[in-house]
Amino acid sequence: MLVNAKEMLTKAKAGKYAVGQFNINNLEWTKAVLQTAEELKSPVILGVSAGAGKYMCGFKTVAAMVDAMVESLGITVPVVLHLDHGTYEDCYKCIEAGFSSIMFDGSHYPIEENIAKTKELIAVCAEKNLSLEAEVGAIGGEEDGVIGMGECADPNECKMIADLGVTMLAAGIGNIHGKYPENWAGLSFETLDAIQQKTGEMPLVLHGGTGIPADMIKKAISLGVAKINVNTECQIAFTAAVREYIEAGKDLTGKGFDPRKVLAPGTEAIKATVREKMELFGSVGKA
Ligand code: 13P
Repeated sequence: MLVNAKEMLTKAKAGKYAVGQFNINNLEWTKAVLQTAEELKSPVILGVSAGAGKYMCGFKTVAAMVDAMVESLGITVPVVLHLDHGTYEDCYKCIEAGFSSIMFDGSHYPIEENIAKTKELIAVCAEKNLSLEAEVGAIGGEEDGVIGMGECADPNECKMIADLGVTMLAAGIGNIHGKYPENWAGLSFETLDAIQQKTGEMPLVLHGGTGIPADMIKKAISLGVAKINVNTECQIAFTAAVREYIEAGKDLTGKGFDPRKVLAPGTEAIKATVREKMELFGSVGKA
């Protein structure tokens, strides 16, 4: 059964560990993340971006697949199905489709409008028992080949949004999506500390989990981060493993062309990445 993220993140924040959000792209991805979570007895959050939702034939298809897979694989750990960086419209589509959690990314709206829309969605989520993530301070990343530097959120704006009653809050602290550039300045722990002091018990979310060194991850968790998003790293691991299979000519021997065989090394590579992250985040055995 799918659950919302409230209880697992409250426990994570209190226990000083973080729950991983792993973005999914297809059936193999979903299966790999769910099986690893079950094996490690870790709570888990499946992230679905608008693009991935479209690729998988819409949010309804995704919700039906995840629901059925949780049942057929006999998954007992808590699983959250979460919309990643949702627009206002996508939030409603996912609520309708049966997601258990949504992220409303209103970071590009003026703060007043971000607040108004967030308030409205909080009320809908409360009624339907969903969790809601809000974002303050845009999280940069690569767009059209240009890597934008991550912003640092204003701690007072974070408090304003947290006080509305969101479940978890993503705040920019110099983090970005995708690979980090050579000259990246690192996470701003000063900003994170100030945000935590203003927002108290609120579980904080760290986006752009790919490529952040282990010591920075640990420090971020010690300063209130309870959810960490990872996407690109699983993609890189998957593609490298499939490439190795093809380059070794394995698709040309016997029935090596069978798509289930071609994608198997990629699926194993996702499992290894998810395992490594769950160990680093400290969520193993916390289900
Ligand atoms: P990465 O792709 O950098 O791991 O970021 C994932 C993310 O933050 C999804 O919201």
